[in-house]
Amino acid sequence: MILGAGLDSRVWRMPELASTTVFEVDQPASQKDKVQRIGARAPLAHRVPELAVDLAGGTLARALEESGFDPRAATTWVWEGVIPYLPAAAVAATLAEVATQSAPGSRLVLNYQSRQLRPLLGRTLVRLVLRASRQPDPLTTEPWRSLWKPAELAKLCA
Ligand SMILES: C[S@@+](CC[C@H](N)C(=O)[O-])C[C@H]1O[C@@H](n2cnc3c(N)ncnc32)[C@H](O)[C@@H]1O
Repeated sequence: MILGAGLDSRVWRMPELASTTVFEVDQPASQKDKVQRIGARAPLAHRVPELAVDLAGGTLARALEESGFDPRAATTWVWEGVIPYLPAAAVAATLAEVATQSAPGSRLVLNYQSRQLRPLLGRTLVRLVLRASRQPDPLTTEPWRSLWKPAELAKLCA
């Protein structure tokens, strides 16, 4: 299960997934864009259900149920590069939904943005350079909505 899959291409590159069903979840606009880009390319994974779900909407569990996802099977959840774009409440709600859908033996792999000065300064610097050079600023539409201390996120995952 890849949450916020974006342009992740593992299922088209990894023969190791030949017998695995990999659900890809992303918000509707990104999901539509990806499906269009993929076109007729066949994945190497056994099956790749593409689910359009806004993780800020609390509808993940229902969408999974409707797609035939089996919560009794152990699942590896991959949630990379997404958490900063969600408000803290949506991160907590998504983790709670993941917990209800996780059979024993399931795993969760995630990364997040911590509250550190260097990345915040880096981001600010990039924006200043873009503005000074009159270039479009893609970060305008991608604000960081939640930053975490390791202990805070560990508590939510416990
Ligand atoms: C930086 S990309 C990361 C993509 C991929 N996981 C990777 O690591 O390459 C962030 C992804 O999160 C998705 N995303 C952001 N907010 C979301 C939301 N509310 N619900 C679902 N997906 C969301 C975006 O559409 C985008 O595909």
